[in-house]
Amino acid sequence: MKRSKVSKTVAEAVVLPKLINLGGNLIGAAFFLMKLLPAKFILERACQEGRLKPESVIVESTSGTFGLALAILCNLENYHLFIVSDPAIDRPLARRMEELGTQVDIVDEPAPVGGFQRARLDRMKIIQEAYPDHFWPSQYSNPNNPAAYAPVAELLTENIGQIDYLIGPVGSGGSMCGTSSYLRLLFPRLRVIGVDSLGSVLFGQPDQGARLLRGLGNSLMPKNLSHSMFDDVHWVSAAEGFAATRLLHRKHALYMGPTSGAAYLVGQWYAARYPEASIVMLLPDEGYRYQSTIYDDEWLKLMGAWMSEPTSAPRLVEHPWEAGPEWSYINWNRRAYEQVMGGPFRE
Ligand SMILES: Cc1ncc(COP(=O)(O)O)c(C=O)c1O
Repeated sequence: MKRSKVSKTVAEAVVLPKLINLGGNLIGAAFFLMKLLPAKFILERACQEGRLKPESVIVESTSGTFGLALAILCNLENYHLFIVSDPAIDRPLARRMEELGTQVDIVDEPAPVGGFQRARLDRMKIIQEAYPDHFWPSQYSNPNNPAAYAPVAELLTENIGQIDYLIGPVGSGGSMCGTSSYLRLLFPRLRVIGVDSLGSVLFGQPDQGARLLRGLGNSLMPKNLSHSMFDDVHWVSAAEGFAATRLLHRKHALYMGPTSGAAYLVGQWYAARYPEASIVMLLPDEGYRYQSTIYDDEWLKLMGAWMSEPTSAPRLVEHPWEAGPEWSYINWNRRAYEQVMGGPFRE
């Protein structure tokens, strides 16, 4: 009998990345929408464990691609989805989620203490209390977010073999911590390189709130971020991340989003430094969402984030507070947050 290669749904068809050789020792793992992988795994597990029933509503607070991934899956599986967000949400993204049947609830006032983050959590609580049988995927703390990346590690090892470096953006920590924990079972010496945004609290920078380079970095500390997985951490400015996104397109015709550009900036630097090493970068989403922003010179100039070419090398720092205003990095050396910062993270 002929084996069918027809996928059951679009989510199934595009959930894994395409592996693309970007010259020499650098390979890009380019996703259509990386967040489909954890969103799908989280919903499947919740179903198996009886925490998600056919009539349950799903409630999540997000303004990014995790919301879009949930919207796609809930459309396909007929779940009612509430996404709670704030005015920073990208309007075309909100419209797209609404077209998929998602109820997008935008809080318009920040809470007096805790700002929009608090206001979003308060709104979530109201919805959750109204639907006691709800399911909250909670990408920042759900262990099934990192656990979802086993098929990526499998795809990489089956098609590449030995991998020496894994480089990628960090937001919830799920993709980098998940993929590298599986890869290190085979390659204990794998070097894991995290890419963060300047002004994000993830690796000890003072919080800058509204950062222009988004999708990576965070103002909250996610439980799913395991700091001791990382050998080096890089902080990239918005202008450098955007310039590298454009360079990835000009040089390799790969039309990706800004977190992919930030990973590429760092990836090509390691590839040139270690020509014998096998280097893989995670490239999380496509560029179409950013056509009128990062791919528009006028918008970049208006935002003060235009740069013709990205910086060629980062500055090595001893402590996260020394990083910036340009691309900087630290030898994190698989330490815990407390070991680097001298104490635990405080909100
Ligand atoms: C476009 C994009 N890139 C990268 C990331 C970071 O991935 P992770 O949350 O797995 O750390 C995110 C997270 O939302 C994202 O939306």
